[in-house]
Amino acid sequence: MSVSVRVPAKVNVQLAVGAARPDGFHDLANVFLAVGLYDQVTVTPAEELRITCEGPDAGQVPLDRTNLAARAALALAERRGIDPAVHIHIAKDIPVAGGMAGGSADGAGALLACNTLWDAGASRAELLAICAELGSDVPFSLVGGAALGTGRGEKLTALEVGATFHWVFAMADRGLSTPAVFREFDRLGEGLDIPEPVASGELLEALAKGDPDALAAAVSNDLQSAALSLFPELADTLAAGRGAGALTALVSGSGPTTAFLVRDPESAEKVAQALRVSGTCRTVRTASGPAPGATVL
Ligand code: C5P
Repeated sequence: MSVSVRVPAKVNVQLAVGAARPDGFHDLANVFLAVGLYDQVTVTPAEELRITCEGPDAGQVPLDRTNLAARAALALAERRGIDPAVHIHIAKDIPVAGGMAGGSADGAGALLACNTLWDAGASRAELLAICAELGSDVPFSLVGGAALGTGRGEKLTALEVGATFHWVFAMADRGLSTPAVFREFDRLGEGLDIPEPVASGELLEALAKGDPDALAAAVSNDLQSAALSLFPELADTLAAGRGAGALTALVSGSGPTTAFLVRDPESAEKVAQALRVSGTCRTVRTASGPAPGATVL
């Protein structure tokens, strides 16, 4: 018997970052939107815990116990006194090290899949607590939709979204390490007074109304300068998408994936095509959101 779970990618429509905390993390006001690009995590009883991965980026996925999917299975097994002998297979469509929570998606997916396979009976609240231990973005991968994340991003409040938003994503030809981008944020902000991160009222209203123009005017990402500082060529990708008519262009999370908000599926195709021929990125995908969180298939 196997259990498969489908888990979405995310884009951050607002990422407000505070000063570094004593524990090294940063307080955030992080507005997540789940989008319809998915990893599928399948768990099957096996002799011992092992991970396999398929997909265009599979070669970059660690197949040892550092993988968030393995850590999720181990965390649940330990809490329940279960032998974590399971084969976890990841069909990967979310870019690796791309700022779209691909690793977090696999953590949330494996957790939900193992809870189902083992009939472990962990409640939603317990699953969310385990997700928060695994990483700041993992709880959102479980819940999906749209949510405001505070604390290090793990304390979630669900948000209302009035319509489907259409996006184009440009994947870069190399990844960016999230800790490195936060370190660069700290370096660029040295000596400056970093304000407390707060969610933008205009942005939450634009989401609730489902108004793409208002959302385009309100998006922001405090990690964008740091990502561009480490990966200056991303400025060309952003310019190519803007030039092709995107309503707005921004780095997704800590990058290097760039996200382009467009008005409708037709403009998505136009912007996607322009990005493909621009020579400024590796691959281009279109997706819309909000998308549902981790779901047992
Ligand atoms: O929580 P997660 O393991 O995904 O975070 C990865 C890294 O990103 C952390 O080790 C830290 O360097 C950085 N981070 C941060 N503040 C946050 C979330 C992540 O500094 N709120």
